[in-house]
Amino acid sequence: MLPKRKPQNRFPLVPVSVVIIVVSFMFLYYYYMAPSSSFNVLSKNMALHFGQCSSQALALGEKFLWYAPHSGFSNQLSEFKNAILMAGILNRTLIVPPILDHHAVALGSCPKFRVLDPNLIRISVWNHVIELMRERRYISIAEIIDVSSLVSKSLVRVIDLRDFVSIWCGISLDSACLNDSTLQSSVSETLKQCGSLISGLHGSDNKCVHAIRDDCRTTVWIYNQGGHEDGTLDSFQPDEQLKKKKNLSYVRKRRDVFKSLGPGSQVESASLLAFGSLFSSPYKGSKLYMDIHESPQDQRLQSLMEEIKFLPFVPEIMSAGKEFARRTIKAPFFCAQLRLLDGQFKNHHKATFQGLKQSLESLRQKGSVPIHIFVMTDLPRDNWTGTYLGDLVNDAHHYKLFFLRDTDELVRQAAVKLMAAGHGQRFISNSKPTAGKRYCSNPTLPDVLLYVEQAVCGCASLGFVGTSGSTIAENIELMRKYGSSYCRS
Ligand SMILES: *[C@@H]1O[C@H](CO)[C@@H](O)[C@H](O)[C@H]1NC(C)=O
Ligand SMILES: *[C@@H]1O[C@H](CO)[C@@H](O)[C@H](O)[C@H]1NC(C)=O
Ligand SMILES: *[C@@H]1O[C@H](CO)[C@@H](O)[C@H](O)[C@H]1NC(C)=O
Ligand SMILES: *[C@@H]1O[C@H](CO)[C@@H](O)[C@H](O)[C@H]1NC(C)=O
Repeated sequence: MLPKRKPQNRFPLVPVSVVIIVVSFMFLYYYYMAPSSSFNVLSKNMALHFGQCSSQALALGEKFLWYAPHSGFSNQLSEFKNAILMAGILNRTLIVPPILDHHAVALGSCPKFRVLDPNLIRISVWNHVIELMRERRYISIAEIIDVSSLVSKSLVRVIDLRDFVSIWCGISLDSACLNDSTLQSSVSETLKQCGSLISGLHGSDNKCVHAIRDDCRTTVWIYNQGGHEDGTLDSFQPDEQLKKKKNLSYVRKRRDVFKSLGPGSQVESASLLAFGSLFSSPYKGSKLYMDIHESPQDQRLQSLMEEIKFLPFVPEIMSAGKEFARRTIKAPFFCAQLRLLDGQFKNHHKATFQGLKQSLESLRQKGSVPIHIFVMTDLPRDNWTGTYLGDLVNDAHHYKLFFLRDTDELVRQAAVKLMAAGHGQRFISNSKPTAGKRYCSNPTLPDVLLYVEQAVCGCASLGFVGTSGSTIAENIELMRKYGSSYCRS
């Protein structure tokens, strides 16, 4: 449930000041009694004045943007791209989130006008972030997806969420890992305050946070379409039946994001601009939430959109893919991406295998055998018997199959290397690294199998067949189209 907004600053003066005194006392106690220990995680400016920005946050001068990603990885990647675009347009520093667990946070359905309210989705993401931190599984999406070229070309500025929180809320997310029971309650409270503040549960104001409440039920963001579309009705509206059934009064308007939220708008002065979900996709001739096109007049937007069409994985993953192709497959090969188990894909085995069969038969007519095939699939190797994959394995004269497992040394090494590289930990230039450069220790190695597999498929010179409707297949197609130069280097 959404906690009711309490006017805490005005009414319960006594309890609030007692809490502040107790918390400060505990903080000072631990700070001075254990100066070099892990208790040092609370910064000296622990001053989240219950729903207001700290002066430290306001003094930064830097303007930030965050958003609430959700669902699976591919979805999170497309929202990340949309967020880069928004941050670029609005000239704000993008706060880079971690990769959330598969479906840990769900949005709902825009076409059905049944989605989680932006405040609620933001706080769900925040709670999940704390959980990832506590379980030492936090990995930034920028540790997997390479945004360095965007950043070096100054198309966007980024900051890791952990760094943002330590600067802006004056508490390190690492403190979520604290074991000490006395300190833990004050830490939890401060983290909770920080989460509520940046999620907009305390409301919005002009200086601190502007939390966007408009979602895909009411708004389609557009940019710079000659100005005449701003405020017009979108072509996709809830029909009368839905309006009646759900008692909706919604009307979807097209609104210019720069005019509403950019420099010159009332929102400009807010230190933090918080979006909810940035999920968008084509729907009934329109877009669900963002409908932003390249525009020849705007060179910067043009370059930005060009760059985000395809964002590569970080070099550690790309080179693991290339290495596997070069050292293990050692020949031109074909890649098959077969999604067989998850959700909608369960019922389409026949069609999925049929596509592969056709491609392989035409390859056999053209070239020499055996045909080398790299297979990425969610069907465990032990279950291939009795499927078309089993047939391929048995036909060793014509086919030679390769696949990767998450226990393979190549995959493990890629994870070790990318953790060591720490791509996600970028500070903005005008800030001092404050509390907690080192994050909760003993990080579990991230599962990078799926990413390495995609990188292998990017190098498949004999061709590629993917599962129709799979976003992973789409990403591989993009990689093969725009980003396969790594295979040849
Ligand atoms: C964008 O923001 C940066 C940093 O706040 C500022 O230096 C720069 O002038 C801004 N650019 C534009 C075009 O407003
Ligand atoms: C925290 O507690 C858990 C079990 O309660 C223990 O396994 C872990 O080692 C402790 N960590 C630290 C840093 O003391
Ligand atoms: C429909 O919603 C309006 C407010 O949006 C409310 O006043 C009204 O009672 C609702 N009607 C029904 C049948 O739920
Ligand atoms: C895979 O095989 C195992 C053991 O033979 C079986 O228990 C399991 O249900 C199979 N899984 C699928 C998805 O077919």
